[in-house]
Amino acid sequence: MKEKLEQILKNAQSEIEKCDDVKSLDEVRVKYLGKQGELTSILRNMKEIPPEERKMVGMLANSVREQVEKALGDKNSILEEEALAESMEKEKIDITMPGIGVKRGALHPLTRFNNKFMDICVEMGFTVIQGPEIDTDYYNFEALNVPKNHPARDMQDSLYITDNILLRTQTSNMQVHAMEELKPPFKIVCPGRVYRNDDDSSHSPIFNQFEALVVDENVGLKDLMKMIDIILKRLFGENVKMRVRPSYFPFTEPSIEIDATCQMCQGKGCSLCKGTGLSEVFGAGVVNPKVLEMSGIDSKKYSGFAFGPGIDRSVMVTNKIPNIKYLFRNDMRFLKQLR
Ligand code: PHE
Repeated sequence: MKEKLEQILKNAQSEIEKCDDVKSLDEVRVKYLGKQGELTSILRNMKEIPPEERKMVGMLANSVREQVEKALGDKNSILEEEALAESMEKEKIDITMPGIGVKRGALHPLTRFNNKFMDICVEMGFTVIQGPEIDTDYYNFEALNVPKNHPARDMQDSLYITDNILLRTQTSNMQVHAMEELKPPFKIVCPGRVYRNDDDSSHSPIFNQFEALVVDENVGLKDLMKMIDIILKRLFGENVKMRVRPSYFPFTEPSIEIDATCQMCQGKGCSLCKGTGLSEVFGAGVVNPKVLEMSGIDSKKYSGFAFGPGIDRSVMVTNKIPNIKYLFRNDMRFLKQLR
């Protein structure tokens, strides 16, 4: 029995030594000290041992058990330490490594200009509306006093889809939609894309305009000029200079063209403004009474004024962009420079 116990201790120690994880160590513990374990069964069957040997065997068995328990405990601490060291190594964070930067988005320069303009108009009591980019000849031309064969159609090279349907050449189509749908008095502004068969460094077949329309009693040229003066100051600063020139649009009478301090040279004179210090920003005018009548508004009671700036040119000039196409290509290398 003595030899058997010594053999058990030896075997247990060598098996414990070989364990390389907590799981196999636990299997060894069960094998020797578990309910059916080799050592447990010897201790349980002490009464079968002759009385004269019992004391010695009992002491020895207990000592073997203690030694096995100690060996198990020691090995367990070693394995746990190793596991901890290994996971620390794996999860090590190098705090000196450069971080992964969070890329911030930014609004497109056209959107920024658009929002600025819209904010100014909304503060002045305008309602922002949206309308169709594909429209009938009636809304784009006819109801704006541009009948078929009218020479004014030559001013805008139109992109027709059918004989009667076209990509709108101006946001002025929204004047007609608004007049048909709203009851005066009203103030609307409509930002949107427009399309013309035009293509060079300062013209794109797609570009952006606003249409602002005020219809009320007793409004006229004086109110239009005052409003444009306020808008230009908000847009380009208090020192902006404004010049009004007579112009022609079939849907406004009188029609005017507004020039403002050239934003490229700040009025000093450059190639863009041909040395005048002023560049064209708006077409505008008092709504032709015929146009009001065509959309069912009583022109004896109501009058109106409208203005329709193109925004691409202003964005080009203020950001010194040499070709209008850059605004539509969405090339990140370009856009990143304008954030
Ligand atoms: N729609 C005109 C254009 O595209 C601009 C304009 C709008 C003129 C409103 C007068 C009034 O040139």
